[in-house]
Amino acid sequence: MKKFTTVADIGNLGAALEEARIVKADRFAFSELGRNRTLLMIFFNSSLRTRLSTQKAAMNLGMNVIVLDVNQGAWKLETERGVIMDGDKAEHLLEAIPVMGSYCDIIGVRTFAGLHDKREDYEERVIEQFVKYSGRPVFSMEAATRHPLQSFADLITIEEFKPVERPKVVMTWAPHPRALPQAVPNSFAEWMNATDYDFVITHPEGYELDPAFTAGARIEFDQRKAFEGAHFIYAKNWSAYSDPNYGKVLSMDRDWMVDAEKMALTDNAYFMHCLPVRRNMIVSDDVIESDRSIVIPEAANREISAQVVLKRLLEGLEG
Ligand code: CP
Repeated sequence: MKKFTTVADIGNLGAALEEARIVKADRFAFSELGRNRTLLMIFFNSSLRTRLSTQKAAMNLGMNVIVLDVNQGAWKLETERGVIMDGDKAEHLLEAIPVMGSYCDIIGVRTFAGLHDKREDYEERVIEQFVKYSGRPVFSMEAATRHPLQSFADLITIEEFKPVERPKVVMTWAPHPRALPQAVPNSFAEWMNATDYDFVITHPEGYELDPAFTAGARIEFDQRKAFEGAHFIYAKNWSAYSDPNYGKVLSMDRDWMVDAEKMALTDNAYFMHCLPVRRNMIVSDDVIESDRSIVIPEAANREISAQVVLKRLLEGLEG
C-alpha cells in the first residue's frame, strides 16, 4: 500500500479484517518489519486516541516515531500558493512538506476542516499536498472530510460484537454546542456502504451529508423509527453540509440525544461513538456507562486499525 486516505486504499475489507484479527492475536509478530524505519506524525489539531494508538501501533512494529504539533513550537505554516507572506506565517507548506519527508519513511497527517469554504475542505488541500510533495507514503490520521483509521476501527469493532451476520447499523446525528466537521460521519458512511450491513442514517432535516459518501444508505428523519430493531447505534454530531449553511449549527435540539428510552426501541443495540463525547448532549450518562456501551473497545481497536495500515505501508516500502 502506498497511501491510506479513503476506504478504497484498503482494498478488500474481508482481507483487511482478517489481517486485523492476526495483528490483534499477536501485536508483536511483525516487530522486525519497522526496524530502522521512522514514522513522522504531524498534528494540525488536538488528539488523544489517534496520537496514542498510532504511536503504539508503530512501536509494536518496531518503528521509531517523531511527533510534531504544528501549532506548538513549529513555525506557523502558510498553506495557500500565491500569498504574499508578510504576516505571522514564517514558512510555506510547500517547503515544509519535502523537508519533513526527508526525515522519515512514512508520514501520518491530522488536519481539520475549516468549515468556512466547502470547496477548500472537500478538495482536501492539506493532506493532498503531503501525498504530492512529501515523497513518502502518507496516511490520514483524520482529514477535512474523512477519518478512515476511525472507520476501520469501527468496522473491526462491529465485526467483533455483531449478534447476526448482517446487522442493522444506525448512525444518528446528536446535538453539540460547537460546529464539527463531517469527517467522521462521511467516513463511517463510506465504510458501512462498502459492507453488506443494513445501514441507516438518521438526522434532522437540513443535516444531509454529501451524497458521495451516503449514497446507498437509507436516510430516516424520524430518529425513533430508525432505532427500531437496530443492533448498533453509532452517535455523532456534524455541522450542516448543504449550502448556504455549510459548517453551521442548525439545531441544538436535545431531543436528539441518545438516551435509555430510545435505546429500548432497538434490538438490545450496542452504543458506539468515536470519542471524545459530550455526555448529556450526545448521549446520557446511563447509556454510555451501560453494559451495551462499547466505546472503550472501539477506541482500543484504533491501535489495531493503525497497525494494519502501518504494516501495509511498511510492506509497500519493500516493493
Ligand atoms: N476519535 C479520535 O480520533 O479521537 P482523537 O481526536 O482524540 O484522536
